[in-house]
Amino acid sequence: MSQNRLIFQDVADTCENASQAVSPGNFHEDITRRRFAYACFIFSALLLLMVVIGGITRVTDSGLSITQWEVIRGIIPPLNHSEWQEAFGRYQIIPEFTQQNSWMTLADFKKIYIWEWLHRLYGRFLGLLVIMPLFIPRIRKLVPVGYMRHWVTIIILITCQGAIGWWMVSSGLAERVDVSPYRLAVHLSLAFVIMSYVLVCGMRLMQPEWLIQHRARNRNMSLVRLSISLAMVLFMQNILGALVAGGEAAKIYLEWPMMGDTFFPYEAISSYVGYMDIISDPAIIQFIHRTLAYLIIVLSIMLWWKVRRSAYNTIATYYKYFLLCVLAQVMIGIGILEIGDYHRSIALRVIHQTVSFVVFASYVRFLFEVYYSQGISEVRVTAT
Ligand code: HEM
Repeated sequence: MSQNRLIFQDVADTCENASQAVSPGNFHEDITRRRFAYACFIFSALLLLMVVIGGITRVTDSGLSITQWEVIRGIIPPLNHSEWQEAFGRYQIIPEFTQQNSWMTLADFKKIYIWEWLHRLYGRFLGLLVIMPLFIPRIRKLVPVGYMRHWVTIIILITCQGAIGWWMVSSGLAERVDVSPYRLAVHLSLAFVIMSYVLVCGMRLMQPEWLIQHRARNRNMSLVRLSISLAMVLFMQNILGALVAGGEAAKIYLEWPMMGDTFFPYEAISSYVGYMDIISDPAIIQFIHRTLAYLIIVLSIMLWWKVRRSAYNTIATYYKYFLLCVLAQVMIGIGILEIGDYHRSIALRVIHQTVSFVVFASYVRFLFEVYYSQGISEVRVTAT
C-alpha cells in the first residue's frame, strides 16, 4: 500500500527546521551572519533609492549639469550667486546647452543641477557607508567567516560604478547633446550586478553555511538551467531598456501595440537595415525591447509550468512574486507609450526603471530558492 510521508519527517516533527537536525549550528556565528544579512538587505534598499534618484536625474535631463568630477570639493554645491554663475558658465559651453537648452536661465539651471548633485552626493554616501566600517576593528571582527572578500568586492564594484558614472557623463560633454546610450547601459547593468551581489550575500547569510551546502545537493539541475536562461534574457532586456532610454527611442514611436501603422517599424523592414542597426537604431531597439518583453511573458509561463511541478513549495511562491512584478513592469512599459507624450511620462519612466530592479531582485530571490531549496521537510515521496 502506498502512503505519503515526508523526507526528514521524523526530524522535522521535533525541530523547527531540518537544519537543527542535520548539524548543530554555532549560535554566535548564526547571529553574526544574520546581522550582516540584515545589513545587506538595508543596503539593497538604499541602492534602490539610488536607482530612483538616478532615474529622476535621467528623465529630467539633469545628468550633464555638473561638468567636473571633483570627488571632495563637489560635495558642496554653489553657495552664492557668483558660484552659481560660474557653474552655469561651465554648462553654457557644452553642446547640450548650445544646441538644445540655450533658452535656460540660471533658475532653470539650478533645477537640473540639484538632481545631479544629489545623485553624486548619495553615491558618495553609499561609497562611504561600505568603506568606513572596514576601518573600524570592532566591526571587522564581526565579519562572518569568508565574507571579507565579498565585502571588498562590493567596495570595488561601487568604486567602479562611480568611475563609470563619470565616464558616462564625460561622453556627453564634447560632441553629443546626451550621454552615450552604451555607457548608460554599462552604468545601469553594473547597478543590477551590485544589487544582485548584495542580495545574494544577504540571502546566503540568513542560512548557516553548512545548510546552504547541504541544500545545494538537492538541486533540480534542469530547473536550474531553465531559470538561468530566463535570468540571462531578463538581463538582456534591461540592457536593451537602457539603450531605449539612452537613445530616447520612445520619442520616435509613441503608440502601442503598433509602431506607426504597422507592427514592424519601417526601420526594421527597410532593405538598408544592417547588423549594427540592431544596437544603434532607436526604432529597432525599441521594437526589440517590446518584442523581448512578450517573449519574456511566454518564457515565464513556460517556466511556471515546470516550477509548479517542483517538490519545493517555496520555489513556486517566490516565482509567483516574480510573475506579478514582471506583469506590472510590462504594463508600466506599455503605459509609457500609451500616454502618448514623452515629456508627460516622466513619472512612469522613473517607475519603469525602478520596477526593473524590483523584477530582477524578485527573480534573484526565486533563483536563490532554486539553487538552495528550502522546505526540505515538505518534500513528499511515495513510500511503497
Ligand atoms: C520584462 C519587461 C520589461 C523590462 C524588464 C524592462 C526594462 C527596462 C529598463 C531597465 C529600461 C531602462 C530604464 C528606464 O528608462 O525605464 C526600460 C526602458 C523602457 N522600456 Fe522597458 N522593460 C520591460 C518591458 C517593456 C514594455 C512591454 C514596453 C513597451 C511596450 C517597454 C517600454 C520601455 C520604454 C519606452 C523605455 C524607455 C523609457 C525612457 O525613455 O525613459 N518596456 N525598460
